Amino acid sequence: MSEIYRTVGLSRTYRNGSRSVAALVDASVTLQAGQRLGIVGESGSGKSTLIRLLAGLDRPTVGEVWFAGTQIDQLPERKLGFLRASVQMVFQDPRSSLNPRMKVGDIITEPLRSRLVRRQLDGRIDHRSRLAEVMADVDLPLDYADRYPHEFSGGQRQRIAIARALAPKPDVLIADEPVSALDVSVRAHVMNLLNDLVASHGLTLVVVGHDLMVVRHLCDSLLVMQSGRIVESGSADQVFHQPQTAYTRSLLAAIPRIRTGPDAPEPQSSE
Ligand SMILES: Nc1ncnc2c1ncn2[C@@H]1O[C@H](COP(=O)(O)OP(=O)(O)O)[C@@H](O)[C@H]1O
Ligand SMILES: [Mg+2]
Repeated sequence: MSEIYRTVGLSRTYRNGSRSVAALVDASVTLQAGQRLGIVGESGSGKSTLIRLLAGLDRPTVGEVWFAGTQIDQLPERKLGFLRASVQMVFQDPRSSLNPRMKVGDIITEPLRSRLVRRQLDGRIDHRSRLAEVMADVDLPLDYADRYPHEFSGGQRQRIAIARALAPKPDVLIADEPVSALDVSVRAHVMNLLNDLVASHGLTLVVVGHDLMVVRHLCDSLLVMQSGRIVESGSADQVFHQPQTAYTRSLLAAIPRIRTGPDAPEPQSSE
């Protein structure tokens, strides 16, 4: 495996008037290509701040972010084409992340039309055929491309968001609580879909989960965050079975009827 991400002493402080909030403190993370990293921690612990820095959507106050051997944290946007093509995000709520005025097909191919990404891909992806491929990837009929987001259920909308993220053939998918805004009944379906797509496309995955079961299902390694700091990290098995901190144990204890290990039930699709 080769290293795809490395952060060094990453910190991000936000200023709210005279108050400053240390959203992320001294985070050092390495990620290998093909790894599936889950990030958990209570609300406000810095999870979204960390992944925004990985995606180059925000800049650190202190520290470095390296992607595929290039330090990205100080690069101007015009030089981030390779990152914009290689790293795609899925957000929590597809209601707010999909433009209601655009047809689904245009939403999905939008990343391919961005100037930076176009220059990066250099015409190597045909938009129409790619649209058909990614809609098939997420089990949506191609004729849905002419409809608008409001015509779809929450689970379908999140599948549209996933199709859009796949469109530029990224190497890394970063998902911020991808199922927490969905009905409980469709969560398993979307998780299984993500699981299958990450495997079949050989993606590197970073998932923020409000729910440890989500991360358990999708990830091979885990970071636990508290108050902007990484307080525990390791393989998912290790963190689940031998949590090293009281904080992680309390997160595990907060999961109702948690079952882990080989006898744990597979979530059932019910969409
Ligand atoms: N744009 C921002 N401006 C000011 N404070 C922010 C901003 N984004 C996040 N924060 C603060 O940083 C801390 C970490 O936030 P966040 O990374 O969103 O946590 P999480 O995703 O774990 O819930 C919180 O205290 C939050 O209020
Ligand atoms: Mg968040």
